[in-house]
Amino acid sequence: MEFVKKVLCIGAGYVGGPTMAVIASKCPEVKVVVADINAKRIADWQTDNLPIYEPGLDEVVKSAIGRNLFFTTDVASAIAEADIIFVSVNTPTKTFGIGAGKASDLQYWEKTARQIRECSHSDKIVVEKSTLPVRTAEAMERILNANAEHVHFDVLSNPEFLAEGTAIKDLLNPDRVLIGGPETERGRAAVEEVVSLYAHWVPRERILTTNVWSSELSKLTANAFLAQRISSINSIAALCEETGANVEEVAHAIGMDKRIGPKFLHASIGFGGSCFQKDILNLVYLCEHFGLPEVAAYWEQVVSMNAHQRTRFVSNMISKMFNTIVGKRIALFGFAFKADTGDTRETPALYVTRELIEERAHVVVTDPKALDNARRDLADLPQDLITYEPDPYKAAEGAHAVAIMTEWELYKELDYRRIYASMEKPAFLFDGRNILDVDALYDIGFSVYPIGRPGKSRL
Ligand code: NAD
Ligand code: UGA
Repeated sequence: MEFVKKVLCIGAGYVGGPTMAVIASKCPEVKVVVADINAKRIADWQTDNLPIYEPGLDEVVKSAIGRNLFFTTDVASAIAEADIIFVSVNTPTKTFGIGAGKASDLQYWEKTARQIRECSHSDKIVVEKSTLPVRTAEAMERILNANAEHVHFDVLSNPEFLAEGTAIKDLLNPDRVLIGGPETERGRAAVEEVVSLYAHWVPRERILTTNVWSSELSKLTANAFLAQRISSINSIAALCEETGANVEEVAHAIGMDKRIGPKFLHASIGFGGSCFQKDILNLVYLCEHFGLPEVAAYWEQVVSMNAHQRTRFVSNMISKMFNTIVGKRIALFGFAFKADTGDTRETPALYVTRELIEERAHVVVTDPKALDNARRDLADLPQDLITYEPDPYKAAEGAHAVAIMTEWELYKELDYRRIYASMEKPAFLFDGRNILDVDALYDIGFSVYPIGRPGKSRL
């Protein structure tokens, strides 16, 4: 088949894979290639056992793979034939040198830019899909256009706003698509090329076009605002626990104010995921870099409050369980950073497990999708203190406490009478996600401690 346009995405991860699968399924006349240096990932995308779990993803991939959706490890050839190149490589927090612990590590990004330059023999539109510090496109353009072949590159920003667990829904029906480009004739034409891809299924009024810096900064700002809401409600949860107020009632009451709105006000054990912390720290670093220490301190507090919330949860467990958990079996229900994903990057459960092991508890980890990742994440801890158990009923057998880490539907529907019967007494339940019915569990016999709401103790 003759394709009218050739799109490449470098990086076949949580963003590159689903995003390109949706573009391919909606634009059958466009050839979409996803390239990655990770051969296993590329092989897995071409099997029934996709490398990431995401509801609805299988169907979308199946609808286009082999037709106009292709996966490859041959990044160089894929670059050579592409018209539009999305770059969706990882941009983690830097762990070394200047800016360590805050700045973005742009090494994968820059390597990709240089490879694009080396393998290009015709003009290309290069689109930043990864989340990047504001003004990265400037550096990208300088690297790309320092070429001998006189090939021209237009660098655009098209940040991704999907959330894991709802990626396909978010991609098919986005609140908005944001495309930033240079305010030149060439820049505007390049933006229009990318707009025309999304316009296959996204209403035009939801496709925003801005200058490049606004687009880059909007992505960091969106994540900072979302995370800030969680830290704000979690800070109030701490106050609720001291005063007898109920954080769910407070969230409901304030959320009915249209100016505040009801979403992202669920008190929890804290936010996890690969991006909120990384992107806020990146914002903090940028503010410091541009001489704005007060602005940096303001945003850094969102991350500190999140860490405090996790530690507070563990301290509460220890104090309720008679100030010692040495040798006690504690079942963690869920390890993924949120429901409907197997992703465990920066999951609060990881920090909780580490703190519990530090206190010499025996931790039993259960999760319907994330046990393999949990095994990898916890590999450096003493394995005789950790059990990995897919069945939550078995995980709870003989446990002193169950702690809910992830809000999987499955955990709402378990037979807690059966679980109670199999546990050590007194049996504790710490609900880090506020998904269970405190009164019903108390009636069964548990001492129950949710977040920011009155618990019920039998002791
Ligand atoms: P990921 O780690 O799942 O995927 C990145 C992929 O890039 C990996 O498979 C890696 O092998 C590949 N890669 C790295 N260097 C490469 C190179 N030189 N050539 C070819 N492939 C290379 O990361 P992700 O979660 O998909 O995130 C990617 C970007 O998107 C990040 O900047 C992130 O902040 C942003 N983002 C992520 C999400 C999310 O929900 N995960 C949402 C919005 C934005
Ligand atoms: C988040 C944003 O929602 C996306 O828009 C963004 O594209 C993405 O980050 C990114 O840049 O990576 P994601 O991290 O996948 O998406 O998932 P969220 O639904 O935002 O949840 C993040 C964390 O916050 C989870 O641990 C979740 O359990 C927690 N959370 C969320 C709460 O504790 N309370 C809430 O009210 C909402």
